[in-house]
Amino acid sequence: MAATGDTTGAKTTSEGWSSRSAFILAAIGAAVGLGNIWRFPTLAGESGGGAFVIFYVGCVFLLGLPLVLSEIIVGRVGQTDAVGSIKRVAAKSGVAPGWSIFGAIGACAAFLILSFYSVVAGWVLYYVGVMGVDFAEALAAGDPFRGALAGESREMIQGRMAGLFASPSLMLGMHLVFMGATFFIVARGVHGGIEKAATWLMPGFFALLVGITIYGAFAGEMGQALAFLFTPDWSKLTPPVMNAALGQALFSLSLGVAALITYGSYIKEGSGLGPTAAMIATADTCVALLAGLMIFPIVFAVGLDPAAGPTLVFQSLPFAFQTMPGGALIGLLFFVLILVAAITSSISLLEVPTAWGIGERRWSRVRSASIFGGGAFLIGIACLLGYNVWSDVRPLGFWPIFAETDILDTVDGFTGKIMLPVVALLTAIFIGWKADRKLVGATAGLSPAMLGVWRFLVAWLCPIAVALILLFGLFPGLLGA
Ligand code: TRP
Repeated sequence: MAATGDTTGAKTTSEGWSSRSAFILAAIGAAVGLGNIWRFPTLAGESGGGAFVIFYVGCVFLLGLPLVLSEIIVGRVGQTDAVGSIKRVAAKSGVAPGWSIFGAIGACAAFLILSFYSVVAGWVLYYVGVMGVDFAEALAAGDPFRGALAGESREMIQGRMAGLFASPSLMLGMHLVFMGATFFIVARGVHGGIEKAATWLMPGFFALLVGITIYGAFAGEMGQALAFLFTPDWSKLTPPVMNAALGQALFSLSLGVAALITYGSYIKEGSGLGPTAAMIATADTCVALLAGLMIFPIVFAVGLDPAAGPTLVFQSLPFAFQTMPGGALIGLLFFVLILVAAITSSISLLEVPTAWGIGERRWSRVRSASIFGGGAFLIGIACLLGYNVWSDVRPLGFWPIFAETDILDTVDGFTGKIMLPVVALLTAIFIGWKADRKLVGATAGLSPAMLGVWRFLVAWLCPIAVALILLFGLFPGLLGA
């Protein structure tokens, strides 16, 4: 058992999970979000499918899973906010407190992710509104079990997204409501309530996901979707695609932003964290793959371009709900549940920098949440204007890999392709090489054989693979391509 004696003077958090399963559910709640339902299918489609998906799953289990365990261990030992926890592990291991820099970079990444996350969650909110109105009409017509958007042509359904993008004020309104709700929850610290609600809603979300996927298997082009998602064309696995897959694995597992350090700090006793980490990674990956199996049969059935980008999910799902019996109701429920999944993630995203402000700057909770929530809101405004008035702004246009990238995709790409891998790299070096081996080993609570495998992955595979993927992903020219 790891000692919890204090050596740094940092304040120890008094919050704790009521049980191990409460921790697992909360970590899964943070992991499952727009990353699974929106970002994964978008990237898989843009990257040509199979090779990306297989490489992604490899990244999750060979690189992500060992890092999930590493972050949880830092929090479990540190017992305080991310930066403080790293400092405490560093002190117990006799290495410089400067290693806590990766906690700070992670908190910055969480802040930037929140900015565009809220904009995309705003699109979900808009569809909740659309489906809500539609369902109300179905009720008024005395036909509550009809399909969604009855009688609407394909152009009308697809045009809805374009209409939303053309209206900065509508997007801004949705973004404001979502960020406001996130801020409100974090500022009041009512985390517990929403997490309890999510515990009930998440199984419902999962059931609907499975149900819609089964429907798609019959009504859509499941064969084509399976071939697209799982038949690798290795020539498509270019370094930038590998970089995107690694970034997506980290994003989806909530790695690289110090969130799991914070979560781990709420674990008060016991070890045996390995199976816990494995459950988080497995559940998250199942949801992502299911989302792919839900969306692509519809994409192919209605002839959408799988590489359509961030709008893919929003363009394809309404078609399934239109033909599905009870689609008006199911569609409404489904968008509501995506929104719930998004808000359980966004509150954790805001919590990371907020906890840093409280712990390291001694700001009050409300002040810290206002500063970071407000800042992310402003950056989000730039992201949404990138879909209309600033549509030709390319913030990192001088950099070849970001030459064609609009504002939202630039913030998304910069965090996912660069910041998260950098934090992952530093985490792996810190845990694999710097932290006290006995302390870390005892906290991991793995069998000797598993401990050896995990040590190898963290100390060797993670640093080398992540460094290579970063290097060639960011500078594909190095390979002479
Ligand atoms: N994993 C979340 C998703 O898939 C997004 C996310 C990234 C996140 N980092 C996080 C959520 C940190 C909570 C905390 O949507």
